[in-house]
Amino acid sequence: MNFAIPTQAPTPPSPAFRGTTLQGIRTMRRERYAILNKIDFLIGSVLVLLAGALAAHAQTADQAWLDHTLWRGTKPTLFLVRPLGENPMVQTAAQEFRREFYHLYGISGANIDEFGNQIVIGTATDVRKGYPHVEVPSNLAPDSFWINTTHPRGGTLIIVAGGDECGALYGAFALLRVFAETGQIPNETIRSHPAMSIRWVDEWDNANGAIERGYGGPSIFFDNGHVSDDLSQVSQYARLLASVGINGCNVNNVNGAAPFLEPDMIKGLARIADAMRPWGVRLAMSVDIASPQKIGGLKTFDPLDPAVKAWWTAKVNEIYAAIPDLAGFTVKADSEGQPGPASYGRSPADAANLLAAALAPHGGVVLYRAFVYNNHLDYNDLKADRARAAYDIFHPLDGKFAPNVVVQIKYGPIDFQAEEPVSPLFAGLRKTNEAMEVQITQEYTGQQRHLVYLAPLWKEKLDFDLRADNRATPVKEIIEGKSFNRPLGGMIGVSCVGRDWLGAPLAMANLYAFGRLAWDPNLSAEQIAAEWTRQTISNNPSVISTVDAMLMQSWPAYVDYTGFLGTQTLTDITGSHYGPNIESSERNGWGQWHRDDANGIGMDRTVATGTGFIGQYPPQVAKMYEWLATCPDKLLLFFHHVPWTYKLHSGKTVIQHVYDSHYKGAAEAADLVNEWATLKAKIDPTLFADELARLQYQAGHAIVWRDAIVQYFLKESGIPDNKGRAGHYPGRLEAEDARLTGYKIFDVHPWEDASAGKAVTCGPVITPSRDFFRRRAQPPAPQNSSTCSAEWTYSGPRGRHDIAVQYFDLQGGVAHFQLEVNGKPVASWAADAKLPSFWPNGDNSTRYTASDIPVKRGDLLRVEGTSDASDPAALDYIEIEPASQSAGSVSLSSANPR
Ligand code: GCU
Repeated sequence: MNFAIPTQAPTPPSPAFRGTTLQGIRTMRRERYAILNKIDFLIGSVLVLLAGALAAHAQTADQAWLDHTLWRGTKPTLFLVRPLGENPMVQTAAQEFRREFYHLYGISGANIDEFGNQIVIGTATDVRKGYPHVEVPSNLAPDSFWINTTHPRGGTLIIVAGGDECGALYGAFALLRVFAETGQIPNETIRSHPAMSIRWVDEWDNANGAIERGYGGPSIFFDNGHVSDDLSQVSQYARLLASVGINGCNVNNVNGAAPFLEPDMIKGLARIADAMRPWGVRLAMSVDIASPQKIGGLKTFDPLDPAVKAWWTAKVNEIYAAIPDLAGFTVKADSEGQPGPASYGRSPADAANLLAAALAPHGGVVLYRAFVYNNHLDYNDLKADRARAAYDIFHPLDGKFAPNVVVQIKYGPIDFQAEEPVSPLFAGLRKTNEAMEVQITQEYTGQQRHLVYLAPLWKEKLDFDLRADNRATPVKEIIEGKSFNRPLGGMIGVSCVGRDWLGAPLAMANLYAFGRLAWDPNLSAEQIAAEWTRQTISNNPSVISTVDAMLMQSWPAYVDYTGFLGTQTLTDITGSHYGPNIESSERNGWGQWHRDDANGIGMDRTVATGTGFIGQYPPQVAKMYEWLATCPDKLLLFFHHVPWTYKLHSGKTVIQHVYDSHYKGAAEAADLVNEWATLKAKIDPTLFADELARLQYQAGHAIVWRDAIVQYFLKESGIPDNKGRAGHYPGRLEAEDARLTGYKIFDVHPWEDASAGKAVTCGPVITPSRDFFRRRAQPPAPQNSSTCSAEWTYSGPRGRHDIAVQYFDLQGGVAHFQLEVNGKPVASWAADAKLPSFWPNGDNSTRYTASDIPVKRGDLLRVEGTSDASDPAALDYIEIEPASQSAGSVSLSSANPR
């Protein structure tokens, strides 16, 4: 959330990780592509010509779900693939189909002995011309397609007819999906059209190649202040997007967009548009409403000033001369430090309509973000409420926006939270086009280091019935334009891909799901998970059911170990948005408050006694949230302030729910490891090892979260856990209680991020005060390396045990650790992960588990830490538990998340 600041440079994956995993996957795939291209070459003259054009794709890296090799070895029906007409996108569709089809089955041209079967791909118009006897539906709309199978003269003819050339391309991908999923020819006619006209991804890339909230490496679009010379990965990205029907890509950050309108940059953007165009993905760009002043030399950017209007008209004409099919602009204004029309007493409608007028002659649209709020709210004012802002500002403007303006609304009233209600603004605009904005990049949901499949969260919002006018108005139908009869609408996914796409293989399920839901919001999250798994990992039913179960469990598990009952995020909101920092959201102007104290917790947003936010919902929904008796437990603390002892519908008190849900969540995260472990030998070994390391890291970090929240609220409420877990850690030996050599005890900030608030360090550490403006923090000056140790005498039962070492893995150096039992090393590892922040806290608290170690009473357990540069090898505790049977077989935890 919250800061309009220069972002940190993206952290590339640690070299070790790249070398052993993602890099390995890429190399393997490159080899496979190379072989398949050779095969393509043998297929016959028409095909050979087309195969030549595929060479570019042979250079591709990771193709995510398009890396089909699933039916290798099975005998498919072979087809001649015929594009109809000269349209380049139809040619692309045919090339794509053919290449992927042969790839899918691993077949070679030498095996192809007859072309009695054909797949014909074209626009409906061309199909009608070429095949007059085929009854293509007369009303195929643009982007839609029709796939029909017949068996003339004993062969098979599959017709893919698109409402236009994009439809033909989407149809080819849909047919491929059928083969990829089933390995069979589709027997039934398939007809499909997208529910929404706007299906865009937004990238938050800066010209220097850094990506705001990007967790997958540096930009694929920009470097060093310019559009990159090599845009081959942009084409690959467009191909992925097209395969799930995404038709627009906004390539630059919503913050600091003015330089993107400079003439040189426009030329570069035109190259990006060229790279995406063959895939039907149109370029869009973020613009800064103050550009006329910032780069245009005008004294003002007042949207009603004629000179400003003329400037935008000329600028838009200049852009369209270079990019004739630009999809449009996205605007963040009067928000988090971005300038806006409020500076001149003008409204968002004035600003949006100014741009809309310039874009309209070219067919462009304005996506005006409703993420407008005051970030200097008064915490002491119990009526102040950031959640109200979007509705308060935009509802009065309903009907005032030009027809080519779409108001882009985040799914919840705050900011991409793991749990928050639907924004009431969706029902508050009846005469305005609306789009729903979601985040594919996992800013508040574990930053791709945690597996969190987001489709269930998005589905919950899409399916939510706002009951506008006391009738069924699910959000999906509002943004489709159906509910209020609007011509435009859609979904925007903030994607922030980098050179490693999303940086984690399973996170790609979120990009896939976004596209599928924007195409058809009625698909279920389970169905999408199954589609993705089948195409990406394996078509073995037991693999599919395991992976799908894991995906479906992952969001609830994350909510369980990080949050509870609809509180705002408990991450460090003035810093990384990653690890726990409960007080960071309180007592400041950002308005992500949870208002907890010794007596209770929650924001009173009722109409009766609170901020009145609930009154922004249509009456039936407002009534449900206003009353404790009907407010769902999962959103209770978003809407109400209640005592810790308040009894939920579940029968538990709020505080007991805090304890239970966090223990449950951490156990669920551990289960993800065990479930994945069952896939050994059933899936690609590189993927298996890669994901296993990630899940083991996640399970360790879930314990950091659990303990932070449980110990914080135990202290605050003073109410014990009726199951006796909170504050009691059998098997845990604190570093501050050890016999220390060289190590010094220090207070961790925030205190809840370390067991009992303290840890030990082998070098200087920053301990920022609560109000420290953390983003500007630098690591402490590098020190000479030194070695320190902590030693305990074991007094528990004899037997084989797992020994977990909890330490802080800081940036600015690679500390080393060694675990010894009676002077003998049993494990040693490097703290070389890339985790946020420069001082020891919950962002970088990391667990390394040495499995199955025999120990007995009286044994000396020792951890030796060797600091390096600015990483002081800080240590929190060790924990000795009976060796686990299940995940134990998977050996050591990895300390190497990205
Ligand atoms: C979040 C995010 C910011 C981003 C903002 C936005 O607040 O933390 O980095 O700029 O959303 O959506 O504009």
